[in-house]
Amino acid sequence: MRILVTGGAGYIGSHTCVELLLAGYEVIVVDSLINSREESIRRVAEISGRKLNFHKVDLLDKSGLSAVFQEKKIDAVIHFAGLKAVGESVAMPLHYYTNNITGSLVLFKVMADYGVRNLVFSSSATVYGDPAALPITEDFPLKASNPYGWAKVMLEQILRDLYHADPTLNIALLRYFNPVGAHPSGRIGEDPRGIPNNLVPYIAQVAVGKLPELQIFGNDYTTPDGTGVRDYIHVMDLASGHMRALEKLATNPGLVTYNLGTGKGYSVLEMVNAFAKAAGKNIPYRIVGRRPGDIASCYADPSKAERELSWEATRGIDAMCRDTWRWQTKNPNGYEEP
Ligand code: NAD
Ligand code: UFG
Repeated sequence: MRILVTGGAGYIGSHTCVELLLAGYEVIVVDSLINSREESIRRVAEISGRKLNFHKVDLLDKSGLSAVFQEKKIDAVIHFAGLKAVGESVAMPLHYYTNNITGSLVLFKVMADYGVRNLVFSSSATVYGDPAALPITEDFPLKASNPYGWAKVMLEQILRDLYHADPTLNIALLRYFNPVGAHPSGRIGEDPRGIPNNLVPYIAQVAVGKLPELQIFGNDYTTPDGTGVRDYIHVMDLASGHMRALEKLATNPGLVTYNLGTGKGYSVLEMVNAFAKAAGKNIPYRIVGRRPGDIASCYADPSKAERELSWEATRGIDAMCRDTWRWQTKNPNGYEEP
């Protein structure tokens, strides 16, 4: 089986490529490197001991993308490519909609041109907005509060419409909760550009001494300790979720939607404490005001994926923090040479 991975040089894509290669799939990566480096691809090959095919192509470049499909017959696509910074999407909606929606439309058209009928799509818990109840099941209403989130809601709808028009397609919409952690080798991990937006990479940079302190965005939420609660999931568990989704597509299921989360919520303070334990360091922090657009709590009901994909997250927050810390200490400048 030959799998095309868009965004395969990025954080979740690179970890998934390792699992794909170890499982014996042939892997072709298409990535513009707008938010990643080719070094991650080199390390994926090193960890897996297998070669993969890399094309530096932007999804907006239809002829460049078609040339990749022309070269070898592709059995399935895993579509990670997209921009993901929520705040940036508010400031630059046209850039986000063009990259994430137009880029995806080009991909779907080229897939149709070459008769590729199997797709795994990276969706997000962001499509649930501020949920009315917890835990979140897949049938909750969909909404968004920023262009990044709207693009996920719209792309899901576009894929449902494509499926209704052609029920021979097989599409898995995977709604990730909060991906964290790194490959246990410490060779690949999340390499944010500039100051991280997300909690765990920020804590890691405080722990390693690159940033002075963590700002905790609010301790007056209706949660056990007042800080925000999220469903953090180890990126290796997410990677194995993609393996199970591909196996599901091979059974011709039509369009299927799954939450990929652990089902457990942890607060910001719980994550700070878990990381301090993993790193053996104190994490200085200061409570500041709430971040606009944040919600109090968000965690999955992952039972549908457990039932239908035989998939379950197996790594807890100690492993998430330990693996993030290993990656951070071994690569203080990410993939960049010091
Ligand atoms: P990432 O930025 O590390 O990886 C995305 C990759 O896509 C990058 O390598 C980037 O260079 C590439 N890319 C972006 N636009 C492209 C284009 N037009 N053409 C070709 N390549 C392009 O992000 P990630 O965390 O690995 O996220 C992967 C996917 O999962 C994204 O779609 C993201 O929205 C989704 N997701 C991420 C999270 C999260 O918190 N990390 C949560 C839910 C969903
Ligand atoms: N937080 C801080 N300080 C920081 C960063 C975050 O206190 O410096 C808090 C937030 O207020 C929140 C929690 O840590 O309570 C988690 O915040 P993240 O930014 O790590 O994650 P979010 O849940 O806000 O959003 C992430 C992705 C979204 C995605 C969503 C669900 O950034 O793109 O998970 O998958 F949609």
